[in-house]
Amino acid sequence: MAHTYSARSRAIEPFHVMALLARANELQAAGHDVIHLEIGEPDFTTAAPIVAAGQAALAAGHTRYTAARGLPALREAIAGFYGQRYGLQIDPERILVTPGGSGALLLASSLLVDPGKHWLLADPGYPCNRHFLRLVEGGAQLVPVGPEVNYQLTADLVERYWDKDSVGALVASPANPTGTVLGRDELASLSKATRERHGHLVVDEIYHGLTYGMDAPSVLEVDDSAFVLNSFSKYFGMTGWRLGWLVAPPNAVTDLEKLAQNLYISAPSMAQHAALACFQPETLAIFEERRAEFARRRDYLLPALRELGFRIAVEPQGAFYLYADISAFGGDAFAFCQHFLETEHLAFTPGLDFGRHLAGHHVRFAYTQSLPRLEQAVERIARGLRSWQG
Ligand SMILES: Cc1ncc(COP(=O)(O)O)c(C=O)c1O
Repeated sequence: MAHTYSARSRAIEPFHVMALLARANELQAAGHDVIHLEIGEPDFTTAAPIVAAGQAALAAGHTRYTAARGLPALREAIAGFYGQRYGLQIDPERILVTPGGSGALLLASSLLVDPGKHWLLADPGYPCNRHFLRLVEGGAQLVPVGPEVNYQLTADLVERYWDKDSVGALVASPANPTGTVLGRDELASLSKATRERHGHLVVDEIYHGLTYGMDAPSVLEVDDSAFVLNSFSKYFGMTGWRLGWLVAPPNAVTDLEKLAQNLYISAPSMAQHAALACFQPETLAIFEERRAEFARRRDYLLPALRELGFRIAVEPQGAFYLYADISAFGGDAFAFCQHFLETEHLAFTPGLDFGRHLAGHHVRFAYTQSLPRLEQAVERIARGLRSWQG
């Protein structure tokens, strides 16, 4: 008999960009110089003080499990960071250290979603969110959003899309793929809209720190009962170490701890010891230099793409992505990506990876390459547009 793997695993879509990435690797193996603007992680390696702390942790034998909630010293350091960055007093008891922001998402979905229940999510958005919900037998109610709402859920949209099976809303600020940021008032009205419906507000703050010309407010400034996902991957540049955290209301912590014990026992020990170095002034200075570099890249690539005819309707204030409308050139976004890969050896991500709404005529560029590389990419885009027959 043919195998039947679970319906929940069959319901999960792969990243469509992976097919392009496989082709990009083939082209690279054949000796072509491929420029990668599809990758959603900083091009910088982990900052030296963190690497040194990781090496010291290994040498000291910190190779075992930690407490499920994470090292107390790290939870305190994270709480201290909320004080420093946002002026917030967060009890370290409310913080759980997780394997990446992905681990925090797994905990939050396991805690908050019963079978058949769903969260409202913006479309376009980060695709794994709806997949995590599916894995816990819940689901996503995708809400189409465009430039008119800064590609973000609003209180009005919550009101419009909330139904008897809705249990919460998940928003990301800054968002992937659009880079848009929610202001304090918007967070407060989303909080009010979900609380009025006895639902939960979950805010993905994974790209915090990577904002340009402004700071993103944390939802915890306006709503102490919200769940916050965060990560050492992006601003802290530790993608491969697999470390993140969740801030939860006090009454949720015991249940979350139980889930953590069962789902993954603890976040990686060496990574947790290494991450303690993130909060030293010299390491924070490195992150700030990198933030400034990302800002320079955005300030170069955004006008360059607009000049070439891409429509980027709202200025992205954070993350390292530009979500661009290719309608002016005609044709389908996936074919457009294929064309640039084949003819110009330039990789970027089709809209299909971020949902359904707007997907066929949008692409995402990640400015996770140096400025000289971005300049080469722009030359290739200009040339590739001339040969594109949408
Ligand atoms: C919006 C968003 N949330 C969560 C994640 C998960 O990242 P990590 O598990 O590395 O923290 C990502 C990664 O790209 C993301 O873009």
